Amino acid sequence: MNNHIDEETINKIRNNVDIVDVISSYIQLTGAGKNYFGVCPFHDDHKPSMSVSKEKQIYKCFSCGAGGNVFTFVQDYENISFIEAVKLLADKAGIPLAINSKITKKEKYQDYLDMYELANKLYMNNLNTSLGKEAREYLKNRDISPKTIKDFEFGLSLDNKDDLVKLLNKKGFSTDKIEQYGLCSQNTYGSVDLFRQRIIVPLYDLKGNVIGFSGRIYKDNNENKYLNTRQTVLFKKGELLYNYHRAKDIARKKNQIIIVEGYMDVVRLYESDIKNVVATMGTAVTKEQISLIKKMAKEIVLCFDGDGAGEKATLVATDELLKVGIEPKIIRLEDNLDPDEYIRKNGRQKYLQKLEHPLNVMEFKLNYFKKDKNLSSTLDIAKYVNEVIEELNKMDDPILKEITIQKVSEEVGLEKEVIKDQLIALEQNKTINEVVKKEEKKQNKYEKAEQYLLYHMVNNNKVMKQYLKNTIYLPTLKYRELARACKQYFEEYGSINIADLMSYLRDQDTLKTLLEINSLNLKEEYTKEEIDDYFKIIQDYNYKEEIKRLKEELNKTTDLDKKISISNQILQINKKSKGDE
Ligand code: GTP
Ligand code: MN
Repeated sequence: MNNHIDEETINKIRNNVDIVDVISSYIQLTGAGKNYFGVCPFHDDHKPSMSVSKEKQIYKCFSCGAGGNVFTFVQDYENISFIEAVKLLADKAGIPLAINSKITKKEKYQDYLDMYELANKLYMNNLNTSLGKEAREYLKNRDISPKTIKDFEFGLSLDNKDDLVKLLNKKGFSTDKIEQYGLCSQNTYGSVDLFRQRIIVPLYDLKGNVIGFSGRIYKDNNENKYLNTRQTVLFKKGELLYNYHRAKDIARKKNQIIIVEGYMDVVRLYESDIKNVVATMGTAVTKEQISLIKKMAKEIVLCFDGDGAGEKATLVATDELLKVGIEPKIIRLEDNLDPDEYIRKNGRQKYLQKLEHPLNVMEFKLNYFKKDKNLSSTLDIAKYVNEVIEELNKMDDPILKEITIQKVSEEVGLEKEVIKDQLIALEQNKTINEVVKKEEKKQNKYEKAEQYLLYHMVNNNKVMKQYLKNTIYLPTLKYRELARACKQYFEEYGSINIADLMSYLRDQDTLKTLLEINSLNLKEEYTKEEIDDYFKIIQDYNYKEEIKRLKEELNKTTDLDKKISISNQILQINKKSKGDE
């Protein structure tokens, strides 16, 4: 465990802040006394599915399963590390923190950050020299103002072989390090800067440290338009969104985030005073990016390029977002324009109008399905209607369903009933599949016993003590590990406190198991018989498994003495298991 602040201090901080105060400084909570409720910020929702327990000092969302203590909330909401969350709350609680000097991730790569900061300064400076004239002109021709250049820290790499390597060498960085961090390559003739004769767009981590660059050509040549820092220890393109650190607070305030594809689209919107924008940097949206997007705002607006590729990318991103319960709004731009080009051609006002009237997913999809189809051809109509029905089948909202059916029925001149019948057939199929799945999911009896036992263990000292007296083997690995962690925790602290246990288990898979157990949401009250029963069910299962194992051994062995001894063991276990009844 990366324990930079000792457990006692962490618990003290947690004890000195109230989770209800902290969470309600981020989202609105209603309620009184023991339990408070709010709209979960970790998934797209309108109902108050997040509950915050004042008594236990934990929160959980019944819909998306998010849960934890005050640290995990701040950590996830602010997108910061555990240590940073502790610091932030220590501040709030007025508890001074003496952090011991173990290396944190940031300090470990401090040389990386220093290197990129220096490189960034060199590039920014180049742009302002006489050698930067042509690049400045290029930017000016693209209507990018000096203020924006400054705000986005654009720079320039000159047409020299190794300006950057030389500078960094002088500042004490070895060429190997520079290569390792992705800023040069070495060959038999020496080292070569990665970026030459390109306008430099610095790329930042979530906190705003420069950790990579993208270089754009600005004179006609047939190299790739953009060249990027390759993946390094800190630079992972798929985990970042361009402009995230500048946009996130504005997006939260507006409760809206606009997603575009390119750097220059962000820049153009920024010039137009629309600052709640991030860019995917031209690749398919990743899971990591979605989880960043989700936390910034409730309203997600996809505004990709107006061309076919942009449309396809919109479709893919929409489906990815739908999978996590987010229904994005969609803007499509005419004439294959990207947002930058659109605004330059049609003006800010026209773009704002688009932003006021975005498409919903269904509207976008209907347009998409209709594309390249001739709705006076019966074959195309059939294809179109089938695609629509598939889509309707995924939808929950009955009103939107009805409206869509109405619309499509008028559009293609087909009776509403025909579409509905088809849909019902599909839905029945879906229901059957769901029932089958549910059956499969029906838990084994002993698994349920493990979960229920653990639930009461983490919520109750008495049950915990009973477990310590009778440390039963839990058949399921993850539950066994949680039980072991609880035991360890209890032996260290002498009592169980679920909120502190959560910080104790941070970063571990065991924490996930604890959250799973906690979201069972059982009644606090329990009877002694109930607990004894869980022990017994688990014990029976263990006996059965042991007997199964011994029987296999019995079948395998030819040694008579061994056979007798195994048979005896089986009898013993059988007797024990009967005796327990
Ligand atoms: P401009 O052409 O300068 O207006 O750039 P743009 O921001 O409009 O970029 P475009 O829409 O062509 O591409 C979207 C994004 O994909 C860019 O911002 C880059 O992040 C990325 N991209 C585009 N071309 C390249 C390339 O040749 N190499 C790499 N690595 N990334 C690229
Ligand atoms: Mn562009």
